[in-house]
Amino acid sequence: MRQLIAGNWKMNGLTTQASAIAGPLRAAAGDPIGLTCDLLVCPPFTQLLTVAQALAGSPIAVGGQDCHTAPHGAHTGDISAPMLRDAGATWVILGHSERRQNHAETDELVREKVVAATDAGLTQIVCVGETADQRASGQETEVVGWQLAGSLPKPFTGVVAYEPVWAIGTGKTATEQDVAIMHAFIRDELVRQFGEAGRGVRILYGGSVNPANAATLLAVPEVGGALVGGASLKPEDFLAIARAARIASEAGGG
Ligand code: 13P
Repeated sequence: MRQLIAGNWKMNGLTTQASAIAGPLRAAAGDPIGLTCDLLVCPPFTQLLTVAQALAGSPIAVGGQDCHTAPHGAHTGDISAPMLRDAGATWVILGHSERRQNHAETDELVREKVVAATDAGLTQIVCVGETADQRASGQETEVVGWQLAGSLPKPFTGVVAYEPVWAIGTGKTATEQDVAIMHAFIRDELVRQFGEAGRGVRILYGGSVNPANAATLLAVPEVGGALVGGASLKPEDFLAIARAARIASEAGGG
């Protein structure tokens, strides 16, 4: 399976920066001997249309970073899944730990958002991951197991991203062993929840992925790609990670 390298720009990027990132990505993706992974960028809502237009006709997909459960209505400040589609998105990140923490998003709410996104034709990346305290007390698999059970509807046709909260934006990456153990656990849980279909779900790793550590992380078994925050804002870094994905795929990762 091709690996997916997804960039989560978070709350970064005005119009000029968005174009400055999208341009080099488009040029690199057009190189016939270039990338053999799938590429996705998820800009803030205000940049979606600009980035989708800049990447139109290229193999790089565009996604949102959240959506509401309802298709429309009296929800001031929210954005619906059909609105993301309308702006050119075909993907959406849901249940990111920053949404779970900053907006008190529960597994149940995330699950409803996954359903709304599916109805609108968006592929979802559903994020799970434990905090430093939960890992320190040995609860990491239990926490991730509950998040998977609560956040994924049946059937589920999206992607899961394992993002340990303590590794996000900290420069601390999980070790290869941490990643191998957790991704194997997530695969088992997906098969338990969804049967054979659970074997086909891509499982991304996220948390301080950069050009220096990408090849190692992407070569870990059951790692089907990366969800990249800070490094996705620099096109040369994001592309270096994408090139590592090609090497990892050839070596049998994912
Ligand atoms: P960083 O790559 O900046 O650690 O962010 C990871 C992340 O949260 C991606 O969704």
